[in-house]
Amino acid sequence: MSTDDRLRRLESLRAENSAAHERAIDRQHERGKHTARERIEMLVDKGSFQEIDTLVRHQATGFGIEENRPLGDAVITGWGTIDGRKVFVFAEDFTVFGGSLGEVVADRITKVMDLALEVGAPLVGLKDSGGARIQEGVVSLDGYGRIFERNVRASGVIPQISVIMGPCAGGAVYSPALTDFVYQVNETSHLFITGPDVIKTVTGEDVTFEELGGAHSHASISGVTHFVAADDRAAMEEVRYILSFLPANNLEAAPYFTPSDKPDRMDEELTTIIPDSSNQPYNMHHLIELIVDDADFYEVHEHYAQNMVVGLARLDGHAVGIVGNQPSVLAGTLDIDASVKAARFVRFCDGFNIPLVTFVDVPGFLPGVDQEHGGIIRHGAKLLYAFAEATVPKITVITRKAYGGAYVVMNSRSLRADLVYAWPSAEIAVMGARGAVNIIHRRELANAENTDEERARLIDEYEEMFANPYLAAETGLVDEVILPRETRPRLIRALDMLRTKRETPPPKKHGNIPL
Ligand code: HXC
Repeated sequence: MSTDDRLRRLESLRAENSAAHERAIDRQHERGKHTARERIEMLVDKGSFQEIDTLVRHQATGFGIEENRPLGDAVITGWGTIDGRKVFVFAEDFTVFGGSLGEVVADRITKVMDLALEVGAPLVGLKDSGGARIQEGVVSLDGYGRIFERNVRASGVIPQISVIMGPCAGGAVYSPALTDFVYQVNETSHLFITGPDVIKTVTGEDVTFEELGGAHSHASISGVTHFVAADDRAAMEEVRYILSFLPANNLEAAPYFTPSDKPDRMDEELTTIIPDSSNQPYNMHHLIELIVDDADFYEVHEHYAQNMVVGLARLDGHAVGIVGNQPSVLAGTLDIDASVKAARFVRFCDGFNIPLVTFVDVPGFLPGVDQEHGGIIRHGAKLLYAFAEATVPKITVITRKAYGGAYVVMNSRSLRADLVYAWPSAEIAVMGARGAVNIIHRRELANAENTDEERARLIDEYEEMFANPYLAAETGLVDEVILPRETRPRLIRALDMLRTKRETPPPKKHGNIPL
């Protein structure tokens, strides 16, 4: 065979590979979805994508599948750059066998996962698949297993992001569930273990695909999904954006961006943000925006457990993870969902060297039989564990309430917070005034001529004595009481001081977080 013939052979294979499965592509577009290749083009820097394994073909037989052996099979894999930084990508291709996962699809995906882990670069998986390839049987189940195992191995080493852009059903959901952040495209993506038909047969419940596994259900009810994107393009934009906050791997620092916001900026609005009455809510999200660079706060899990706010931002150009109680939802109490949400976020930040800034305004744990029987003891302990275990710089700002066990859990000094600041509006005590007075003055109240009057007087007295930051500051449990407007410059200086922090936990295989 001449050299020309050899070159022509490769060219014709390449042409075969990119040949459109036109009908399937049209169907994909009709549904408002893009093809795997189009999505990758939206995700990575123009011209940067290097595809590999374009020439693989499945070896399966039976059910006539041997007659159809498309090059590259049902996934596109390779690497490219996002804002010039390396990233590995796999995109399931619904136009080929419904994106179903057979042996070579799993081989392609696991190959880029291995490379990503070896070189220490983030992995982005674009999911659009009918699940395990039915014709390949247990081999395709093994394919999923091989992917899951790598998801776990890579956890805490490289950031892993999943974007659900079509169906993702059955055990296949466990790959995204094991990754750090899950995006779902609104209306075109569905994520579930068992679909509406099976549910109807087994439990008799009627539910649509959208209600069961649509983006809003998972973003607001189950918490499986962190971000909802309006369409494919918006999802790819958001993935590019979140990666700008993240290091390539656990041995690197997050990228630094020269800030346009001044480090010593003081926002006067902070002075009045806390209402006069301590029972009035305010918006913690807004408070955070007033402090971080350019009011740019990328909230994670925005629609889930809204009594807790978590997200990524920058302070003087350096990425920080922010955790805050949200007084405008459930009075900012800690409940099961809020604890789990924040615990996972704290562990992510700690795993990837992103310092934590925690804003505290927490009246306590949410009371209720549902909460107790749902395991708030076990779930609340997750957040405590996550903060205590974290070795990244940890700074706490108590803006208002910090009561009881919730005070301790919210990155208190006792959990090795590096610095604890409090605003003059801080109230740090074992419990709120009414509860405390009812307990410690039970006898006086029982004997009082006018119980209500006496109770009101004692509550005032208690508030005067305890509802402030000064007792905590006297003991050093608060390092400094600061003016609200000073918060940004204080945090920036503290983070700068802590940048070289080194803390080595005792050697162990791993801890036993109360799962
Ligand atoms: C093989 C599949 C497939 C699969 C879809 N296709 N899913 N081929 N294995 N799992 C093929 C279809 O035969 C069809 O081929 C093409 O993909 C497009 O599928 P359609 O059904 O025409 O598309 P649509 O109407 O959009 O429906 C999409 C769908 C449906 C909802 C995903 O295809 C579906 O229900 N598929 C089966 C889903 C499923 O039960 N998978 C197993 C889940 S369990 P042609 O040639 O006609 O174009 C699982 C276990 C994982 O995944 C366990 C891991 C541990």
